[in-house]
Amino acid sequence: AWPTRVRMFEVGPRDGLQNEKQEVSPAVKAELVDRLVAAGIGTVEAASFVSPKWVPQMAGSAEVMAAIHRVPGARYTALTPNMRGFEAAREAGVDEVAVFAAASEGFSRKNINCSVAESLEMFRPVVEAAKAAGLPVRGYVSCVLGCPFDGDVPPGDVARVAAALYGMGCYEVSLGDTIGVGTPARARAMLEAVAGDIPVEKIGVHYHDTYGQALANILASLEFGIATIDSSVAGLGGCPYAPGATGNVATEDVVYMLDGLGIETGIDLEALVRTAWWISDRLGRPPVSRVARAMKAR
Ligand code: HMG
Ligand code: MG
Repeated sequence: AWPTRVRMFEVGPRDGLQNEKQEVSPAVKAELVDRLVAAGIGTVEAASFVSPKWVPQMAGSAEVMAAIHRVPGARYTALTPNMRGFEAAREAGVDEVAVFAAASEGFSRKNINCSVAESLEMFRPVVEAAKAAGLPVRGYVSCVLGCPFDGDVPPGDVARVAAALYGMGCYEVSLGDTIGVGTPARARAMLEAVAGDIPVEKIGVHYHDTYGQALANILASLEFGIATIDSSVAGLGGCPYAPGATGNVATEDVVYMLDGLGIETGIDLEALVRTAWWISDRLGRPPVSRVARAMKAR
């Protein structure tokens, strides 16, 4: 049975634009966030308080947060790998923070310069400080269906890291197919492993569409009972530390499918598609998403 309502977790302004080669100003990023919220998206990952040496694209995150026109009820979130990032995020006024681990050692090392075990120790004080400040913390696990450096990733490794994040106090764990290699049966096997340790309603899925499998994997996840889906408007994105990774599944592609299944999201698809074209025009290229292109053409 599918859920009747799905919570869409928009990561375009962060996961999308962190990988953009051209410079995108804080004003454009903030307007993108405002347009997404106006289209009915309830949670937007708007910023990332990471080292600018590692991800220069996210350097203006405090300016982005300051330029957003906050809408009551909407949630504005940010990545915070360490205490320095957490303090900056709190000062910038985010509603929620996120720590991000990996299911594979190779990706952990390349992305955050430490082992998986060391990363969990780096996150622990962040989670504690966030709880003390009354901010919910999300946990990400990357490379849940394959790693660009280590290859296959056993479901047990994903479950172990996800359980550690949940046990630490993350309210939800988002499972990322960072390089988009997964297919539905493998996605399901991975979810089964994770759901052995964490309630299904505390699991989100974060598929990248590199091999065109994201919607199929989402459908398999919905059938498994997952009701939180990460996506990126216009299919923006990739990951600077995952060679060959393309964007996340496009938000409008997911919403079109959910509308067709009669699953509620609260999102206005027409306004979302206009937003996909708006940011794509700023970047000087069409959206990769099928739905955005089809709806513009009609
Ligand atoms: P490090 O080099 O090991 O540690 O980086 P460091 O403490 O030596 O820091 C290096 C420099 O950065 C220092 O500056 C620090 O002060 C500074 P220096 O002293 O040399 O002038 N620094 C910071 N500056 C601003 N904000 C901070 C911060 N922390 C340190 N928070 C570190 C370790 C974790 C900081 C680094 O590796 C890093 O920032 N990595 C982030 C990489 C990243 O953002 N990747 C993309 C997000 S993950 C993703 O996209 C996957 C996901 O979407 C899910 C999926 O798709 O699977 C979530
Ligand atoms: Mg991602």
